[in-house]
Amino acid sequence: MHHEELILILCVLVVKSAPKSCIRRSQIHVVEGEPFYLKPCDMSAPMHNNETATMRWFKGNASHGYRELNMRSSPRIAFHGHALEFWPVELEDKGTYFSQVGNDRQNWTLNVTKRNKHSCFSEKLVTNRDVEVKKSLWITCENPSYGELINHTLLYKNCKEISKTPMILKDAEFGDEGYYSCVFSVHHNGQQYNITKTVNITVIEGNSKITPAIFGSKSAKVGVELGEDVELNCSAVLNRNDLFYWSIRKEDSLDPNVHEDRNETTWTFEGKLHASKILRIQKVTEKYLNVLYNCTVANEEATDTKSFILVRKETPDIQGHVFMRGITMVVLTSVAAVCVVILCIIYKVDLVLFYRRVAERDETLTDGKTYDAFVSYLRECHPENGEEYTFAVETLPRVLEKQFGYKLCIFERDVVPGGAVVDEIHSLIEKSRRLIIVLSKSYMTNGSRLELESGLHQALVERKIKIILIEFTPASNITFLPPSLKLLKSYRVLRWKADKPLSSKSRFWKNLLYLMPAKAVKPWREESEARPVLSAP
Ligand SMILES: *[C@@H]1O[C@H](CO)[C@@H](O)[C@H](O)[C@H]1NC(C)=O
Ligand SMILES: *[C@@H]1O[C@H](CO)[C@@H](O)[C@H](O)[C@H]1NC(C)=O
Ligand SMILES: *[C@@H]1O[C@H](CO)[C@@H](O)[C@H](O)[C@H]1NC(C)=O
Ligand SMILES: *[C@@H]1O[C@H](CO)[C@@H](O)[C@H](O)[C@H]1NC(C)=O
Ligand SMILES: *[C@@H]1O[C@H](CO)[C@@H](O)[C@H](O)[C@H]1NC(C)=O
Ligand SMILES: *[C@@H]1O[C@H](CO)[C@@H](O)[C@H](O)[C@H]1NC(C)=O
Ligand SMILES: *[C@@H]1O[C@H](CO)[C@@H](O)[C@H](O)[C@H]1NC(C)=O
Repeated sequence: MHHEELILILCVLVVKSAPKSCIRRSQIHVVEGEPFYLKPCDMSAPMHNNETATMRWFKGNASHGYRELNMRSSPRIAFHGHALEFWPVELEDKGTYFSQVGNDRQNWTLNVTKRNKHSCFSEKLVTNRDVEVKKSLWITCENPSYGELINHTLLYKNCKEISKTPMILKDAEFGDEGYYSCVFSVHHNGQQYNITKTVNITVIEGNSKITPAIFGSKSAKVGVELGEDVELNCSAVLNRNDLFYWSIRKEDSLDPNVHEDRNETTWTFEGKLHASKILRIQKVTEKYLNVLYNCTVANEEATDTKSFILVRKETPDIQGHVFMRGITMVVLTSVAAVCVVILCIIYKVDLVLFYRRVAERDETLTDGKTYDAFVSYLRECHPENGEEYTFAVETLPRVLEKQFGYKLCIFERDVVPGGAVVDEIHSLIEKSRRLIIVLSKSYMTNGSRLELESGLHQALVERKIKIILIEFTPASNITFLPPSLKLLKSYRVLRWKADKPLSSKSRFWKNLLYLMPAKAVKPWREESEARPVLSAP
């Protein structure tokens, strides 16, 4: 930025102080409608300083020789110092002019070009400038001859305004090529005129040569299928005049199926030439396979070659294969995972029991309770409850106590008759880890209500005991249950099917064991486990 500001200040100074420079060249091109002036050079020194010396201007035309110009010749002409000014120059002003001071003469031929309506500049008036790539490109808009009259200046590239400040200073890139027009706005007698100066910038490559090279590996195998067309793309970075060619076998050079297809050449902004050459082989047959097609880039100093070879494609779609296999693996793995989860859910009870056995878990050691379960059943033995009685007093203890080492509290068996029944039951339930309720229709109408209520209170309110419900009669109708009992989780309700023989390995017993507290089983009981425990009477 400092750089640019400095230059700008410099420009301003130059613009302000410079007088109109003289015009030495004799052939002059100018575009109609722009201000213009003529000013002779090489006036002898004394003349130059003689204020009173008069300068005369003449215009020649083909037929009449020369005619002196004065203020009345044209309203667009003005004499200013030693200059003849046009405000502006028009087509009719073309011709030869000369100035005379004493014996000094200078003449010019003025060509006035028609304005191009479709462009902001006239192509005949551009100056060409070459800039080496990566060297600095410096464009400034200066017009010292009109210095103080210039109102504002704009810079255009290809007729599009480009920058706030009318100047450019950068490293040249190939993208910078184009027509840069400085448009100076000049005011004269209340009129605005434009002066356009256009430079045609061409970015040329630097003198430093690069080593030409072909992209990619030195040899390439191209998989093809017979009958299809193939394009071999050879890309290289090279200098402008380097050689770049495909070499093919003699027999292929006459083959219409083998030909160079198209050339692509691009200049990168860094000034490198990128080129691609395509060799096209149509309808590939066996004779094109396993032949070297060479692509070469070369200059005096270096050569680079790449060989292409056509081979038949192996498995047509290896990618797809691998992909499908991957998908299958993922699907199978997910299915397996889901299956494992489902199996775990189904065999949860077995897994827990297995784990308890392997780990020898025992959660009964430290809680200070005496019994593993209090069994609540119908004590008064009505005839229709005979099965229930047998189940509670015989079957349950046979399996849970004899085979699995649990200690049950069965009122009839374990409680000495007499004493305060209510207190007794309450304290027994408190000493038990589970309350097993053997449920039948007549259960609720019976005296066992006390046990149930005490147990429910402990289970639901004090959370001291867990209830296991055994539905003895297939109780489709559970409406007689107290609502609090319905809050029991469904897995805590077991169904005893009296009409099916059950071994100690049956699901009913497994579920019951699962609900019972974990207790280490003594090994000697293992053998008795296998034999049927009960068959329906
Ligand atoms: C200035 O020019 C006039 C004639 O144009 C001449 O008479 C006079 O001597 C010149 N003066 C000088 C100082 O050269
Ligand atoms: C501008 O420069 C380019 C490249 O040198 C050239 O081809 C083109 O003719 C030039 N344009 C004019 C108007 O001279
Ligand atoms: C620039 O142009 C405006 C009218 O467009 C004029 O008022 C002003 O004086 C001009 N400035 C200069 C420095 O010529
Ligand atoms: C001068 O150029 C400006 C744009 O730079 C344009 O708006 C204006 O009309 C031009 N004036 C003349 C007299 O050509
Ligand atoms: C050839 O390859 C080059 C570089 O890899 C790429 O720029 C060019 O577009 C390719 N040409 C064709 C026709 O594929
Ligand atoms: C291609 O180059 C190899 C060596 O790299 C050469 O043996 C072979 O003849 C060349 N093929 C053609 C067609 O020029
Ligand atoms: C590609 O360029 C080479 C010379 O470099 C030329 O012989 C060939 O005709 C060009 N091919 C096309 C399609 O332009």
